[in-house]
Amino acid sequence: MGKQATIFLIFFYLMKINLASAVASPLNSSTDEHSLLAIKAHITFDPNNILASNWSLGTDFCTWIGVTCSRRRPRVTVLNLFNMSLQGTIAKEIGNLSFLTYLGISNNSFKGVIPDEIGNLRRLRRVKMSYNQLSGEIPRLSFGFLTNLEYLSIQGNHLTGTIPWNIFNISSLQAIGFTGNQLSGTLVTLPNDICYHLSKLEGLYLSNNQLSGDIPTSLFACSQLNILPLSYNNFTGAIPIQMGNFSQLQELYLGSNKLSGENNYFYKS
Ligand SMILES: *[C@@H]1O[C@H](CO)[C@@H](O)[C@H](O)[C@H]1NC(C)=O
Ligand SMILES: *[C@@H]1O[C@H](CO)[C@@H](O)[C@H](O)[C@H]1NC(C)=O
Ligand SMILES: *[C@@H]1O[C@H](CO)[C@@H](O)[C@H](O)[C@H]1NC(C)=O
Ligand SMILES: *[C@@H]1O[C@H](CO)[C@@H](O)[C@H](O)[C@H]1NC(C)=O
Ligand SMILES: *[C@@H]1O[C@H](CO)[C@@H](O)[C@H](O)[C@H]1NC(C)=O
Ligand SMILES: *[C@@H]1O[C@H](CO)[C@@H](O)[C@H](O)[C@H]1NC(C)=O
Ligand SMILES: *[C@@H]1O[C@H](CO)[C@@H](O)[C@H](O)[C@H]1NC(C)=O
Ligand SMILES: *[C@@H]1O[C@H](CO)[C@@H](O)[C@H](O)[C@H]1NC(C)=O
Repeated sequence: MGKQATIFLIFFYLMKINLASAVASPLNSSTDEHSLLAIKAHITFDPNNILASNWSLGTDFCTWIGVTCSRRRPRVTVLNLFNMSLQGTIAKEIGNLSFLTYLGISNNSFKGVIPDEIGNLRRLRRVKMSYNQLSGEIPRLSFGFLTNLEYLSIQGNHLTGTIPWNIFNISSLQAIGFTGNQLSGTLVTLPNDICYHLSKLEGLYLSNNQLSGDIPTSLFACSQLNILPLSYNNFTGAIPIQMGNFSQLQELYLGSNKLSGENNYFYKS
């Protein structure tokens, strides 16, 4: 074998190692620690000094306030920062907490956008980001990857744009909460049937937005749906007749919309 070929082979071998590590790039417990510290670094105000004093490098991050690790390995499964009066943005590095099943940051003052990187967290079951000041659009694609998601609540923020259709593809979802944002667009132009994949959906909270167009009749085919707040939007048209046959529904809120037409089928026995 000539010198050139040998050099080429060595080069190729190094390339392969490089590629392999780039592709696999295993996220490990030190990545989790790095991610938590990045999250802390994006918090600009922590009036009760909760993270400032507790989340300190060199200590076991599994003991940090709001952090729970897996019993089997030092990987973060729960991040719960509920009601800590925190201000700041959500660090992209959150997407590296690859064992996360529960993300709770409700009732703080997080602002800015929801990072797309959340879509990397395929084990997520519960996402609670209500009552913050999050703005921008709901990440278009990311949430569609969260195929284990059961509970998604982003109520009381400043989100704009339309509801990404692929959220309605997540068949594990039991509750979707978007009440109290500035979401617009219609639900009827969404392709096919909202309920087709959502056989477990029990609550769809959409009140206090700027949603418009008809209330899709297909909604009333969600067999488990029992709470459907749609009030304070710009929905128009008639109240769908299918609603009258809807046995599961216990709470339906339609006030303050622009609905019209007959609705006497409610009174049929
Ligand atoms: C963890 O992953 C990082 C980045 O991929 C790497 O640099 C580090 O060596 C890994 N640590 C361990 C203990 O495997
Ligand atoms: C952080 O707080 C928890 C719970 O109060 C405590 O168990 C832990 O030792 C604290 N860690 C540090 C580094 O202060
Ligand atoms: C949230 O925090 C505030 C004070 O910052 C406290 O008054 C309130 O009780 C807390 N709520 C819950 C549910 O812990
Ligand atoms: C973690 O996330 C950041 C930002 O999303 C990314 O740049 C970085 O490569 C990720 N991986 C590790 C091992 O930190
Ligand atoms: C949210 O935080 C505010 C201000 O700290 C507090 O007054 C309120 O009780 C909290 N809400 C809940 C549900 O804990
Ligand atoms: C939703 O699911 C259907 C059927 O499984 C698939 O054809 C479609 O591409 C999915 N849409 C999105 C946006 O993921
Ligand atoms: C909703 O209705 C209000 C009042 O008619 C109107 O000012 C607003 O532009 C509408 N918004 C949308 C998104 O249709
Ligand atoms: C409601 O149910 C009755 C009896 O099961 C059926 O005849 C009727 O077609 C249904 N109406 C609608 C709008 O689904």
